[in-house]
This record gives sequence, C-alpha cells and structure tokens, in this order.
Amino acid sequence: MDKLIIKGGKPLKGEVRISGAKNAALPIMTASILSSGKNTIYNIPNLMDVKTMGRLLSNMGAKFDHKDGLVTIDSSSINNFEAPYDLVKTMRASVLVLCPLVARFGRARVSLPGGCAIGARPINLHLMGLEKMGAKIQLESGYVIAKATRLKGASIYFDTITVTGTENLMMAAALAKGTTILENAAREPEVVDLANCLISMGAKIRGAGDSVIEIEGVEELKPIKNYEIIPDRIETGTFMAIAGITGGDLTLKDCRPEHLDAVVMKLKDTGVVFKETKKGLRVIGPKRLTAKDVKTIPYPGFPTDMQAQFMTMMTIANGTSVIKETVFENRFMHVAELKRMGADISIEGGTATIKGVNKLKGAPVMATDLRASASLVVAALCAEGETVIHRIYHLDRGYEKMDEKLRHVGADIERVTS
Ligand code: EPU
Repeated sequence: MDKLIIKGGKPLKGEVRISGAKNAALPIMTASILSSGKNTIYNIPNLMDVKTMGRLLSNMGAKFDHKDGLVTIDSSSINNFEAPYDLVKTMRASVLVLCPLVARFGRARVSLPGGCAIGARPINLHLMGLEKMGAKIQLESGYVIAKATRLKGASIYFDTITVTGTENLMMAAALAKGTTILENAAREPEVVDLANCLISMGAKIRGAGDSVIEIEGVEELKPIKNYEIIPDRIETGTFMAIAGITGGDLTLKDCRPEHLDAVVMKLKDTGVVFKETKKGLRVIGPKRLTAKDVKTIPYPGFPTDMQAQFMTMMTIANGTSVIKETVFENRFMHVAELKRMGADISIEGGTATIKGVNKLKGAPVMATDLRASASLVVAALCAEGETVIHRIYHLDRGYEKMDEKLRHVGADIERVTS
C-alpha cells in the first residue's frame, strides 16, 4: 500500500493543469451503454475509479480502452447486464449502470452499494424513479434486479437532491417512451455535462442545470463522438486551498472557475486573492487566513466535496469558524487526523467548530475517504515537519498524479510503495 511523505511549510508556486472531472467522467462512461457502437470521450483522467468503471464495462462485454486521456468504449458487444458486488463495493458510482442497462436492454442486476465511510448513502430515490417509469424491481441476495419491456416517461420528484440519482434517471428517460419530468433535480455541472453529452448522442433534454429537467424519450441514441468532459472543479478547489494555506501562488490551467463560484467567494473572504490571467486562474494565499463559517449544500452552494479541505484551511486561520455539513451524515472523518496534527476542532452532530491555531505539526495520519485524504495533503503541505499519509489509495481514486503536480510546484513530497 502506497504512502505519501510530505515535508511541509513551503509556499507552493507555479502552474498546475487541472484534469478532467472524475464525477463527470464516470456517468458519461456509463452513457455509452445507451448506444451500440464505438464511443469516444476525451479528457478522461487516469484514476483508479476510471479503471474500475472500465473493468465494469468490460465485464459486461464492452470493449474498453483508455490512453492519453481518450477513452474508447465499444458498446455493441454488451451481453452481460450485471454489476457484481466486488466492483460496486470498490466504487459506488457503479450504480450508474443500472438505468442505462434497463433503458437499452430491459434488464439489469446490480449489487446494492452498502454504506460507506461518509454516510449510509441509500439509492432509494434511483429505484423510486425507475419504478415510476414502469420497471419491476426486486431485491434479491443484495442485488437490485430491474426489468422493463420499455420504460415510459414519468413525473419524478426527488425528496432529497441527488446527483447520481438525477444522472441515472436522466439516462433512463433518454430512451423511454414519452416525456419525463425530474423535479428538485441536482444542478451540479457534472449533471449538465452528462446532459450535454446525451444531447450530442441525440437525446432531447431541456433544463439541465435547473431544478426541473424535461426529457423527451427517443427510440435510439447514437454513440458518443469525441465528447470532451469538463475540468474537475473539486481538484481545482483543492489546489485553491493549497495555494491559500501555504501562502503560495498557483496558476490553475484549464479550469472553469464559474463552476466554483461559492468556493471562490468563500476563499476570497478568508483572504485568498484570485486573478484571471492569460495562462489561467492565479490563486495567491495571504500571510494568514481569516476564519469564516461555511455550510455545505448542493450546487450552486458550497460543495460537500470541498468541506474537508476548507476545514483544514480554517485550522490555522485567525479566529474561530463553524462548519455545517448538511449533505452527508458522517463526513468529519478527517477531524481526528487533523487533531493529531495539532488542530483544535470540536464536533457536535453535523457541526464542527474550529479554533485557528498558529501552526499544524507533521504526524503520521491515515486517509479514510477521498476528500478526507485530500484534506490531509493540504494539512501536510502547510505543517511544520514531516507528515506520513497512509492508505493513499483513496487519493488515487480521485486525483490524477497529485504528488507529481505538487512536486512540480515545489512541494517536498515522496510516494513510497510498501
Ligand atoms: N440520498 C438518498 N437517497 C438516494 C440518493 C441519495 O437519501 O437515493 C442522499 C444521500 O445519502 C446524501 C444525499 O442524498 O445524503 C446526497 O447524495 P447524492 O446522491 O447527491 O450523492 P452521490 O450522487 O452518491 C455524488 C458524488 C459525490 C458527492 C455527492 C454530493 C459522484 C460519482 N459522486 O455522490 O462525490 O459528494 O454527489 O455532491 O458523482 C467524491 O467525489 O468524493 C464524492 C463522494
């Protein structure tokens, strides 16, 4: 298992290229199931989760290849409509094959994802929507078995805003008979990217990016042709946090700052300076950050996927900040590790209170989930002395070459394989 050894305390300076968005890549890869033929998708990051999705699609009979950011998926040979437990348990986003399989082949057998480190994360809303569209759903030995001759359009209201739920049902609706309305839909840029990709395949979708999406089903969809996915807004935000906390000066290339308005505004309040330049977005950290409160909410609110990194910034800010996590019930796993580095944080329910200290100190720490791991990297880069981050396979699931990118801007970071 690899670990990272980081000697912190240096302001990081230079240019960082932002990779394609993991959470856009995964649903768009599953959209290939909706067509029969050769799909080509650009700007796909080289990540463990992308490899897992490739294995899942190959296991279904598709031909998958990933080279230099280009993914090709030949979906004409899909003949197995199953997502097995072994793959779903490594990556919850595997559940995104459910609706495309039912929409195109009329059946799917998909392992139910269990709980995960950050919360229970049920998929009841995905199933409720699919059932409303006419699918017969059974739960058997830990698997969801869904069948339908042809899905039909329906009006679906989400009690809770769900990103992959909206994406799954948008894919179901794209090939259904009639019109589907998704109400209280997720508005994340990744949902819009999937909608744009589906539209390029011939789908009829209106309103993606708003909370009501209307999809008029079509008889068939063409394969994806040279679709380029959006840059990763959470990777962008993580590098903003790194520039901010190290008092650094990073220019983020190929990013889309308009996907991070809430993060940019909040970081500005803490003293981080942003400048649009020809090369990209320049992010300059202050001498000392100012404490600010934050509440995570679905897009366009402050993203839960940036909560851990923001909290790390607040550990050494001037003042006390209060962070409310409202999306997931257990997303404070990084707190115990940050405290081992000297942070002063107390938690009550979904609220964390962080009293800024003068500095963090290096320590051995353990990564517990993807964004918690990222927050430990952020902490280590500003901490005095050496931090060893164990179990960084979590980080490798969602950040492309993070250690290389950091080394390139002056970080003292080493990956050790043991
Ligand atoms: N929820 C339900 N029922 C459902 C679906 C969701 O109650 O059927 C609840 C969840 O338990 C949670 C809330 O709704 O409390 C929001 O969950 P959502 O479904 O939006 O999360 P997700 O689609 O499983 C995606 C991202 C996550 C990101 C969340 C929130 C992908 C592949 N994953 O998850 O990304 O945190 O949206 O923005 O898009 C990450 O990249 O580190 C990550 C966890």
